[in-house]
Amino acid sequence: MQLREIRWGSREFAAEVELRYRLLRQPLGLWFSPRELEAEESERHFGAFEGRRLVACVVARPLGQGAVQLRQMAVEEDRRGRGVGRLLLDFAEAELAGSGFTEAVLHARETAVGFYEKAGYAVDGEPFEEVTLPHRLMRKRLTPR
Ligand SMILES: CC(C)(COP(=O)(O)OP(=O)(O)OC[C@H]1O[C@@H](n2cnc3c(N)ncnc32)[C@H](O)[C@@H]1OP(=O)(O)O)[C@@H](O)C(=O)NCCC(=O)NCCS
Repeated sequence: MQLREIRWGSREFAAEVELRYRLLRQPLGLWFSPRELEAEESERHFGAFEGRRLVACVVARPLGQGAVQLRQMAVEEDRRGRGVGRLLLDFAEAELAGSGFTEAVLHARETAVGFYEKAGYAVDGEPFEEVTLPHRLMRKRLTPR
């Protein structure tokens, strides 16, 4: 498996959007607007590949003051439970720490809180609803390795 950054607007970015749509939006009856995808040019995109097949992705949105929001984390259904998500998360965090970010925050679906806790994230505050699902705000300090 290879971990690498995906360039916005590339063919790999199109595969990333397809994966995110199929795994995160379509099941909720939601989609991406062209404006939403255009705004992602200013974000960082990371992927896990098996050969040319994209099997997992995560997006990082700079928030200012050293903070970055990780979002749209998804692993192909037939590749879950094999450490792919954790490897990709570790890779994205290391790249972002290397770029000077000092804190990662995210809105975790309640069902994924345990995954992020294992990776060192802590819940902050009360549950809230986003894209029709209960979520928790989670935080982790990033340190360059
Ligand atoms: C959540 C998700 C990204 C996890 O990816 P994954 O590749 O299956 O996770 P990994 O195999 O790397 O798991 C790493 C560790 O977290 C644990 N873990 C994985 N998913 C978990 C979950 N939903 N709840 C609790 N623990 C979880 C694993 O057991 C493993 O523990 P270990 O280190 O003790 O063995 C993946 O299941 C997914 O894409 N889910 C659907 C979309 C989604 O919910 N995305 C997150 C939106 S916030």
